[in-house]
Amino acid sequence: MRCPSMRDRRRQEPPHDKTHPMIPLIRMEFQTMHELVRNTVKTALHPVAASVLGLLAAGFPIVGAAVAETIPIDRIAHIHDLTVDPDDGSRLYLATHDGLFVAGPDEKATRVGGSTDDLMSFAVDPTNFDVFFASGHPVGGGNLGVMESRDRGATWQRIAGGDGGPVDFHAVTVSQADPKVIYGMFKGLQVSRDGGRTWRNAGPVPEKTFDLAGSARDPDTIYAAAMGGLFVSRDGGRNWSPAFIQQRPTTLVEVSAEGRVYAFVYGVGLMVGEESGFGWEVRSNEFGNRYPVKMAIDPNDPDRIHVVADTGAIVTSKDGGRSWVSYMGHDRETPEFVAGARKVYEEYCQACHGRNGVGERPEDKHGQDDYGFVAPPLDNSSHGWHHADGNLAHTILNGSSRNPRMLPFKDILAEEDATSVVAYIKSLWNFGSLACQGARHMKCMH
Ligand code: HEC
Repeated sequence: MRCPSMRDRRRQEPPHDKTHPMIPLIRMEFQTMHELVRNTVKTALHPVAASVLGLLAAGFPIVGAAVAETIPIDRIAHIHDLTVDPDDGSRLYLATHDGLFVAGPDEKATRVGGSTDDLMSFAVDPTNFDVFFASGHPVGGGNLGVMESRDRGATWQRIAGGDGGPVDFHAVTVSQADPKVIYGMFKGLQVSRDGGRTWRNAGPVPEKTFDLAGSARDPDTIYAAAMGGLFVSRDGGRNWSPAFIQQRPTTLVEVSAEGRVYAFVYGVGLMVGEESGFGWEVRSNEFGNRYPVKMAIDPNDPDRIHVVADTGAIVTSKDGGRSWVSYMGHDRETPEFVAGARKVYEEYCQACHGRNGVGERPEDKHGQDDYGFVAPPLDNSSHGWHHADGNLAHTILNGSSRNPRMLPFKDILAEEDATSVVAYIKSLWNFGSLACQGARHMKCMH
């Protein structure tokens, strides 16, 4: 199996986060437009294309806010934090380097409100999902102080500068036990006891703290995920003690409304424990070199959790972190759906690509052809995860120009079958492959 040369790959999949994030947004608009229009001509009218074309027909200019607002999620370079839309658990609010977006499992992200500020930290009032808090950097430079939105990000007001501010909290968390209590990280730990209006220094934070999470039981209990491990303070941040015996880099901590603590400890895996006494259990540890950096728990279904991986990809678990699927399409990928797709795979693909996508063995006589190439594995062990869903479906429908044995299936399979086989192939992938799919694979050349 040959993959495109490094040069080809660069041409197809530019590394987005190497350039300044403001510029790609504008360039993206045209790429997206171009892709949408091309796809529209080729296939049925895509809903987003339909709305874009609707705007064009209505006489809206192509440039300007209306069209630039919807972009593919993988064009967002830095997702700093995320939360689940309480009205539709499949949708996520994403706090990014370029403002707030709301995203769906169709992989499209749409800007919320007009702000393009760098939202370094972001939190939701757990008792009123209309109320968001954020901090970070305004477009023009400097620090934002403490920002509040009372309309889910449509408009923002600065409600405080913070202690010694304006602050640029790199982590912020609202206590689930008392939503008036908010913690932020700026020169140590800061606390507000009046919903973000006034702030005072509460104490130090463990060195190199990456993430904070408030307790669901006690407003004075707070957790910190840090380079030196997972820590807990039970006196509002004055004193900290280790919450887990292995003091390894801990990249995230999150507490569910029920008082379940999730923490990712590098080298150990995703751990889950109860606030009362912890009793840690490792839920999954097949992360390879990758790790999740932020987590959001669906308030309507605590087993459904979404993480942002270190690569910037969003990866989803529907079973409380035991197994992982791609965020894209996760809403339709029920076990029945994947079982149906597996049947298609077994009928049309398994003869060459092997059971469970292990690929053809080179020594297998059937695997030899005039070119000497075999059908590659489609599981984690080869390069399948280098390709975005669309590219995989394209190969399935149109075959490979390099090797006629990979035939075009477009006369045999409906486009729908091709996309469902892609879903089956991805069900064979681990967290690392899911986090590295498509454009993000350049970060994962291990
Ligand atoms: C007759 C054997 C054969 C069958 C049947 C077959 N393939 Fe392939 N497939 C190949 C070969 C050989 C290649 C390598 C092509 C190349 O080098 O470009 C390939 C390549 C691919 C790739 C590209 C992988 C990559 O890493 O770039 C995908 C995806 C794929 N096949 C999916 C499928 C699916 C899905 C089916 C069933 C619908 C299928 N194939 C059926 C032989 C086959």
